[in-house]
Amino acid sequence: MQPRRKALVFAALFPTLIALSGAEDTLFPGDPLKDDSSLISSDGSFKLGFFTPGKSKFRFLGIWYNQIPVQTVVWVANRDSPLPDRTGVLSISINGSLSLSDSKGVVYWSTPSTRLAGPVAKLLDDANFFVAGAGGGGNAWQSFDHPTDTLLPGMKLWVDRRTGFTRNFTSWKSDDDPGTGDSTLFLNPNGVPQMILVQGSKRVWSSGLWVGKEFSGIPEKRSYEDFNFSVISNDDEAYYQFTTRDKTVLSRLVVQSKGMLQRLIWIKEKGTWNVYYFAPKEPCDAFGHCGIFGICDPNESPTCSCLQGFEPRLQDNWNLRDWNDGCRRRTPVDCKNNTDGFVLVANAKLPDTSVEVVIYNMGTDECREECLRNCSCAAYTTDVSIEGGGSRCILWNGVLTDLRVFDNGGQDLFVRLARADLCTSGETYFQPV
Ligand SMILES: *[C@@H]1O[C@H](CO)[C@@H](O)[C@H](O)[C@H]1NC(C)=O
Ligand SMILES: *[C@@H]1O[C@H](CO)[C@@H](O)[C@H](O)[C@H]1NC(C)=O
Ligand SMILES: *[C@@H]1O[C@H](CO)[C@@H](O)[C@H](O)[C@H]1NC(C)=O
Ligand SMILES: *[C@@H]1O[C@H](CO)[C@@H](O)[C@H](O)[C@H]1NC(C)=O
Ligand SMILES: *[C@@H]1O[C@H](CO)[C@@H](O)[C@H](O)[C@H]1NC(C)=O
Repeated sequence: MQPRRKALVFAALFPTLIALSGAEDTLFPGDPLKDDSSLISSDGSFKLGFFTPGKSKFRFLGIWYNQIPVQTVVWVANRDSPLPDRTGVLSISINGSLSLSDSKGVVYWSTPSTRLAGPVAKLLDDANFFVAGAGGGGNAWQSFDHPTDTLLPGMKLWVDRRTGFTRNFTSWKSDDDPGTGDSTLFLNPNGVPQMILVQGSKRVWSSGLWVGKEFSGIPEKRSYEDFNFSVISNDDEAYYQFTTRDKTVLSRLVVQSKGMLQRLIWIKEKGTWNVYYFAPKEPCDAFGHCGIFGICDPNESPTCSCLQGFEPRLQDNWNLRDWNDGCRRRTPVDCKNNTDGFVLVANAKLPDTSVEVVIYNMGTDECREECLRNCSCAAYTTDVSIEGGGSRCILWNGVLTDLRVFDNGGQDLFVRLARADLCTSGETYFQPV
């Protein structure tokens, strides 16, 4: 059986149809893709082929936008195994394995074999390159499961909750080298979903917890009319995804080197990519900038202070604006006599912790009581914006890190304090119920 020949006969009979559908989008066994040829998705959005980035001397197999003048690569197959010349070919074998090799037969990149009957590899209109059975059956391997540095609409920033496996998006080494770089974005494996950006082994930024319609640390998302964002989270998996409301709008979320995340959007009139959003933006975005129990406010000078009821752990260093050691409680909380209260931190980015506890369908009063009941509970919040409309109680145990405030947006965080550290005036005093 020769599917491609069949397609050609079909094309000969209906030449206008093939003109409309453009080049081919499918790779068949026995018909490899050479360096000078390419696959184009059926609506013409994306192209898969060989390219040379910037000043590089090497060839890479990748996927880029087909309908814009600036070559913008969104996926690279052999990022860490560059081809030295133009003799590379991509082929799919009858066992469904994709393989990129040169004229000497050296294999630079490959995918596992499959048990599918009559496997083919197809480039879809969303830029997903996938291996499936000839009848469309099964989906053995897909490029969306092996991302490079770019999250496109419909792709998942995914984590397997059962194994803790995170699907990482990792920067290029440089504009000339798509090799695995120093910065990685992933979704935290445990707790309420949040995006985490690391550079090397250092966490440089976190999106803050997902609070229904946005991440707590990206309050400006409220004004992102052009996008739909969603996070799905259950016992098996969690993922973040976005789509553009207007399908003709091109947007991508890219992990740049040196610990920088960018959302770019294509400006048709100018023929350029515009940076729509980036992080980290300012010192307060740097992960844990003010240390534990510290709070960062970009409008204050200095930007770091201790939460009410807390004092610097190392006052001398703090005076020198070394915030790393953070703050400690002035007065221990009272776990026996039930005299503690809470101070409100308004417009907050919810703190980071790997030990937050989430209780669904619990209102503010019960949430506060729940926190008081457990001596290790340091703060709580409730949010009512979660999908399904119910109210959710989040409790933080132990230390609070990466806390900051915004001018607008953010959440109300209630931090537990001993009675001696509560001020009795104003709205910041919350007596135990
Ligand atoms: C699948 O085919 C490729 C290419 O012919 C070969 O290298 C590989 O060993 C095969 N895998 C299996 C499991 O047969
Ligand atoms: C993803 O990145 C994190 C942080 O660098 C790392 O710990 C983890 O091993 C990576 N996971 C995979 C599958 O590469
Ligand atoms: C975006 O979300 C709205 C509301 O949930 C939904 O009606 C709409 O279909 C979504 N649009 C896209 C492009 O996903
Ligand atoms: C709790 O009450 C007892 C008896 O009034 C008192 O001795 C103790 O100091 C109180 N503990 C705290 C932490 O306030
Ligand atoms: C208090 O919180 C800790 C940490 O989450 C938890 O292990 C413990 O079971 C809690 N205790 C109670 C009584 O809820």
